Amino acid sequence: MLDRPRRNRKSKGIRGLVRETRISTEQIIYPLFVVDHDKARQPINSLPGQFRLGREDLLREIGECLELGISTFELFPAVVADKKDKTASYSYADDNFYLDYIRAVKDRFPEAVVMSDVAMDPYSTDGHDGLVRDGKILNDESLPILVRMSIAQAQAGVDVIGPSDMMDGRVEAIRRTLDEGGYTDVSIMSYTAKYASACYGPFREALESAPKSGDKKTYQMDPANVREALREATLDEMEGADILMVKPAVYYLDVIHRLKEATDLPIAAYNVSGEYAMIKAAAERGWIDSEAAMLEVLTSIRRAGADMILTYFAREFAEWQRVR
Ligand code: PBG
Repeated sequence: MLDRPRRNRKSKGIRGLVRETRISTEQIIYPLFVVDHDKARQPINSLPGQFRLGREDLLREIGECLELGISTFELFPAVVADKKDKTASYSYADDNFYLDYIRAVKDRFPEAVVMSDVAMDPYSTDGHDGLVRDGKILNDESLPILVRMSIAQAQAGVDVIGPSDMMDGRVEAIRRTLDEGGYTDVSIMSYTAKYASACYGPFREALESAPKSGDKKTYQMDPANVREALREATLDEMEGADILMVKPAVYYLDVIHRLKEATDLPIAAYNVSGEYAMIKAAAERGWIDSEAAMLEVLTSIRRAGADMILTYFAREFAEWQRVR
């Protein structure tokens, strides 16, 4: 035997030399849930280790994460029922706490990269990402609302807008209006290939944002399709997206890989709530080693081709890396 692959695995040092995939905290984005309170820090039942944060909690969390080397945060608002309506009007209201928090974070930590979520579901009594009429989710009628939400977030100082709604044409509509308003520096990370997945359950529990009726299959993608993801990627690229995202990540590693080959834009992958919760739940029962599973999952997503990863493991990963 002249060729023995095991020689390159014989020690930690050698394994480090030949390792093909690395993860840095610079590539990690931390999704954080926020509520309209000064101090809250409500534990999220479905996401062990994650909290709904009030204003002060959020600022503290971000300060600590910056120290740990995480620079980017995507914020998701949990909105109380009496602020919700058919048209998600609270999403751009003057007294919207989410916009206030974006301003507060950028004020206190100008170096932090703040990403927003654009979709109607957290603000809508229907719990859908677009406008609902007679049981249908309307595309073109939703665009002006998504655009208005985006402009309000740009005014608040957000760095990157993240349309997660999957309406056709929304990237172009948002890009054009941002540019007309002088917000040419505000980026768009498009949820390009967002699948109608069973893995969003814990997130919807965290925000109480589950659809009141029906499902999201007329706008989110069929898990069976990959060529359709390439079509979405071409459109988002033409419409002016800066970053393309695949979501969820772990069941869709092939989609990440295909998009990476098909485009020159950076690829983000969203390691979603269900993917995190499954590991945490199994770990609580002693069936899986949470830390080892975290490292394997994040490595796999990077190996598939993701340039950056949105993950609820963000802080845990940064802390693991620091003590190592
Ligand atoms: C809402 C949105 C969802 C997620 C991010 N933005 C849920 C959904 O589409 O129902 C899911 C994220 C996660 O599960 O971690 N537009």
